[in-house]
Amino acid sequence: MSTFYVTTPIYYVNDVPHLGHAYTTLVCDALARFHRMRGDDTRFLTGTDEHGQKVEEAATKRGLTPMQLVDQVAPRFDEMWKLLGITDYRFIRTTSEHHKAIVASLWKTIRATNPDDLYLETYQGWYCVGCEAFYKESELVKDGDAFACATHKKPVSWLDKERSWFFRLSKYAEPLLAHIEAHPEFIRPESYRNEIVSFLKGGLKDLSVSRTSFSWGVPVPEPDPKGDVHVTYVWMDALTNYLSDLCEGSAIGGPDVDKYWKSAVHVIGKDILRFHTVYWPAFLMSAGLPLPKGIFAHGWWTVRGEKISKSLPATRIDPLTLADALAGSPEKRPIGIDAMRYYLLREVPLGNDGDFTFESLFGRFNADLANDLGNLINRSLTMIAKFAPASPPKRDDQYLAAQSENPYFQIELAAHETCKLAAIQFEAFAPSKALEVIWRFVGMANRFIDQTQPWAMDRAKDPALAHCLWCLQSSLWLIARLIDPVLPATSRALREWIGDTAPVTWPEVSGEGRVLAAAPDDLVARPPSPLFPRLDEPMQNAIVVKVAGDAAATTAPTEAKPPPRSKPVKDKPVEAPVASGPITFDDFMKVELRVGRVVTAIAVPKMKKLLHLTVDLGEAAPRSIVAGIALAYNPDQIVGKQVLVVANLAPRKVGGIESQGMILAAGDESILGLSSLDRDAPPGTRVR
Ligand code: MSP
Repeated sequence: MSTFYVTTPIYYVNDVPHLGHAYTTLVCDALARFHRMRGDDTRFLTGTDEHGQKVEEAATKRGLTPMQLVDQVAPRFDEMWKLLGITDYRFIRTTSEHHKAIVASLWKTIRATNPDDLYLETYQGWYCVGCEAFYKESELVKDGDAFACATHKKPVSWLDKERSWFFRLSKYAEPLLAHIEAHPEFIRPESYRNEIVSFLKGGLKDLSVSRTSFSWGVPVPEPDPKGDVHVTYVWMDALTNYLSDLCEGSAIGGPDVDKYWKSAVHVIGKDILRFHTVYWPAFLMSAGLPLPKGIFAHGWWTVRGEKISKSLPATRIDPLTLADALAGSPEKRPIGIDAMRYYLLREVPLGNDGDFTFESLFGRFNADLANDLGNLINRSLTMIAKFAPASPPKRDDQYLAAQSENPYFQIELAAHETCKLAAIQFEAFAPSKALEVIWRFVGMANRFIDQTQPWAMDRAKDPALAHCLWCLQSSLWLIARLIDPVLPATSRALREWIGDTAPVTWPEVSGEGRVLAAAPDDLVARPPSPLFPRLDEPMQNAIVVKVAGDAAATTAPTEAKPPPRSKPVKDKPVEAPVASGPITFDDFMKVELRVGRVVTAIAVPKMKKLLHLTVDLGEAAPRSIVAGIALAYNPDQIVGKQVLVVANLAPRKVGGIESQGMILAAGDESILGLSSLDRDAPPGTRVR
């Protein structure tokens, strides 16, 4: 039996999961589901990265010990994956005793195999706590006079002569290049392989692999003759998780290592490519251990070009909120999750960056799920239920003549090819292409109905009707299986409606080349209920309000709330104090005024002065803003209007609703008018 071992990066616990994290996990879940369906012995690992300076600092900021922080946040990831229906995964925490023992074991194995690869030296240089990485000056960007990290756009710290253990990374540039050349699939996609090859060709510097200026990490398992206490560099610690979960005892090795390691593929974001394709294999080579099969890097999900991340609250889309909003009702959450999975995995080929927009999300939902798939299921099952009493679906060989104009022959041929091609694409880590191939078949099945027109056939006399219904029923049987890795809840519903109770495996495509013939002939279909109702404009607006409002309001749960600046007055808009003297230009520039456009407006129940607006500020999603303008404007007068917004006002509750900004208006109690520009400007434009 083949094995398949797929891993996600382990997530930092200084943040709670957002859509960017969920993407990697969902991709791995889909790939693991596909391989399980193929009968591969599949192992799927995810977890949390809990040591290091970043986590220690995050804990201190919140007034917690690092252990308290990690114990609070790590379960949030596990919970999130369970709520998102991720199945059959293992969850590793780097603070577990087992993992810590394996990190120490890796160190000792390196020392035993290549004693000179670890040596003591003094480190001096730049360090980005966000990346937990050392940088050369040439790799940094300038932020005024300071140097900043190109990923985090935040100043880097200067580590001044910190005593450190070094790893002889410089020795491994050549062996790594040779390995990459001999194993073209080691780094995928090709663009990332090329990037690493040219990086390696530039030569490698030795790497500092321990820290002495803080203590939150795995102790280095050998003494420093000077008595300094070292903790293992957090990346050396974290990368070891992929192996430690397979190890049986407290040293590297065991039956699962033998079984799964050779098939390991690490799916990662492009920002952590170097750690996985240079440091990790070099540590393994140094320890005399085999390398994983490969590393597959994906791009970033952005919102209007900005990476979805902790530091940009408006980009932090919560995957569960998005899934629930798409589902429309809590009991349909699994279908909402399917829609989100479909969008994320279909819209962007794995490896590319993708910009999240509501337009593309709703476009995919309505065109692919509601129209193509939803209609096919609905039309087919409704017809089968109606015609089956007189003409039960039945395969009939007389309709299978290999002719290009014979729709019965064509659909069998296409089904067969689709099954083969989709498998090839899933195997190649290309879920987007697999879905494209499957949807081509969905389109063809819809056209098959139009061509054969079963409703026009004579139910009592036309023998083609039973075969036509059989083609449709078997096509649904096939589609239910092909979509299962990405749309498991939809697959389950569909299989139930066609009476397919067999375990969900990937259909065999051997034999006479007709995969539909593998469909059971005793299926009894029943009419479906709607799965993906078309999202009309009000539904779309409601989704935008829910997802955007939630993104803007999210902060890490353990973050200490800033002390209130004045006693809050319940539900009453706070009057701005009038300055007693002139303010400076710098004071004025602290106010972030931006152009906005009102997307939706609704009255706030029992608050006659308030309107609840959503306002597009050119961010991930519109902001929720409560404005005291209801006496001057009806909701439908204001939708579509350009307004000026104070965008950096701390969020607060008005009328029981979170308000994430303020629109500028003239007048006090009675509003005389709303401010706007004398010409059109894109939402988000700064006003000075
Ligand atoms: N802890 C390290 C990984 C150690 S693996 C041995 C880490 N953690 S992370 O939480 O910052 O990021 C985890 C993964 O989430 C990375 O692969 C990163 O690329 C991915 N993503 C975080 N934000 C993302 C997007 N906006 N889009 C896509 N993936 C993103 O790095």
